[in-house]
Amino acid sequence: MTAPLSVTPDVAPIPGNTPLLFLLHTGTTSSTFWLAMDPSRKLSHRLALLFTFCIAAVSVGAKILYAGVNESGGEFGSGNLPGRFGVDYAFINKSTVDTFVDHEKINLFRVTFLMERMCPLATGLGSTFNETYFREFRDAVNYITVTKRAYAIIDPHNYMRYNNASAQPISGSVIGDTSDPKAASTADFQAFWTELAKRFIKNEKVIFGINNEPHDMDTQLILDNNQAAIHGIRSTGAKQLIIAPGNGFTGGHSWTQVTGDNNAPSSDYMAKLSDPLNNTAIDVHEYLDVDFSGSHDECAQPGPENLAALTNWLQENNLKAMLTEFGAGNNENCFYLLNEMLQYLADNDVYIGWSAWAAGPLWGTFRSCCGDDTGSLEPGNTNDLGGPNAFKTVWPNAIRPNIPVHAFWSIKPPLNGIVAALSRDFDGLFVEK
Ligand SMILES: *[C@@H]1O[C@H](CO)[C@@H](O)[C@H](O)[C@H]1NC(C)=O
Ligand SMILES: *[C@@H]1O[C@H](CO)[C@@H](O)[C@H](O)[C@H]1NC(C)=O
Ligand SMILES: *[C@@H]1O[C@H](CO)[C@@H](O)[C@H](O)[C@H]1NC(C)=O
Ligand SMILES: *[C@@H]1O[C@H](CO)[C@@H](O)[C@H](O)[C@H]1NC(C)=O
Repeated sequence: MTAPLSVTPDVAPIPGNTPLLFLLHTGTTSSTFWLAMDPSRKLSHRLALLFTFCIAAVSVGAKILYAGVNESGGEFGSGNLPGRFGVDYAFINKSTVDTFVDHEKINLFRVTFLMERMCPLATGLGSTFNETYFREFRDAVNYITVTKRAYAIIDPHNYMRYNNASAQPISGSVIGDTSDPKAASTADFQAFWTELAKRFIKNEKVIFGINNEPHDMDTQLILDNNQAAIHGIRSTGAKQLIIAPGNGFTGGHSWTQVTGDNNAPSSDYMAKLSDPLNNTAIDVHEYLDVDFSGSHDECAQPGPENLAALTNWLQENNLKAMLTEFGAGNNENCFYLLNEMLQYLADNDVYIGWSAWAAGPLWGTFRSCCGDDTGSLEPGNTNDLGGPNAFKTVWPNAIRPNIPVHAFWSIKPPLNGIVAALSRDFDGLFVEK
């Protein structure tokens, strides 16, 4: 999703370490458990039931593991480089993060930043970072992951483009486009991700989002750039989850379709990704308005029907996906369709998490999605019409009811294997430059 070009800022988890514990909350599985405990049954029967119960425990563990919200703001004012922290751009308001973790019990934030700020144009895309910008970003990530113990997706919000973010999502050279002499190379992108991963290598709560919404480029090149990022990240020894986008603004509904000017479907390429740790998932976005853009108040697109082809593809290829952006307007039909989509994700175990678009410290009354009467998900703000914003409307009606009752506070790789849940172990270290 694209941020406004410039803004005027106005400016409990269930403890324990066994998946059996939280399963007692679920209907059919808990009755299996009680049957297994029934002393009137033969021991062998009880053991068989207990075995069934444990298998069920594992499959429940593979459902929604991460649930939360986008923190958008680090990419704001993209026409103004480097920009001023707290004025042109900012990452989080800590008290907002407190509200979301302490009261809403979410465990995921997707934190956006701009690659042209992290890697200034003078030195180009690569391993030379602006240390001031990096520190500001890292402070936000560490507040979320170390202080609040939630997960943070690191999101270079760049549409797989670099060198001119002034008119995102269309401006800037496509990374790896060898026909464009000004374009950064795929190797530069790999160097960038290698450096970034190195700096978070000890932080288990970080998830690496390769890039936001590639579009209108060769799908093969997206595969190549994704693969380079994975190689770079794994070359450092970093083991955390990686999420990889596809073409067409990484739309879930269009995953198996031609997008843009005849660009091949993401589904033709992305199953070729290889990760030595098998800990890479697919990153998709899905808005429920008529053209999937998130710019309309009315919802017209049913999530389950539109995601069905992606779901099949994920199942066929033994892959998982996260829905890292979605949105719907402030009205009953949107609430209905959004609940339906989030329920669909929970019902299909190829989906492991979601984050709503968007909270963020600089939105003010502006809408992050879906019409002026919607506003953003930042607590404490109104919408542009002076009414309650999406945190008071969309969130309680269609997002809060879908937050899993059990928060997962430490999820161990590999993703395609059995996910070990509910360990409170935490390694709060990060690598200092
Ligand atoms: C952060 O959020 C709190 C609570 O909504 C608000 O009082 C404060 O003004 C916000 N800070 C900034 C810098 O926006
Ligand atoms: C690095 O970022 C800081 C904070 O945005 C900014 O003040 C400074 O000018 C930037 N330096 C370069 C070389 O871009
Ligand atoms: C950046 O992109 C915008 C929009 O396409 C264009 O008008 C502008 O000239 C570009 N800036 C540079 C330095 O290329
Ligand atoms: C990754 O998956 C492949 C194919 O299923 C398997 O051969 C390999 O052992 C797995 N690697 C890890 C680290 O789990």
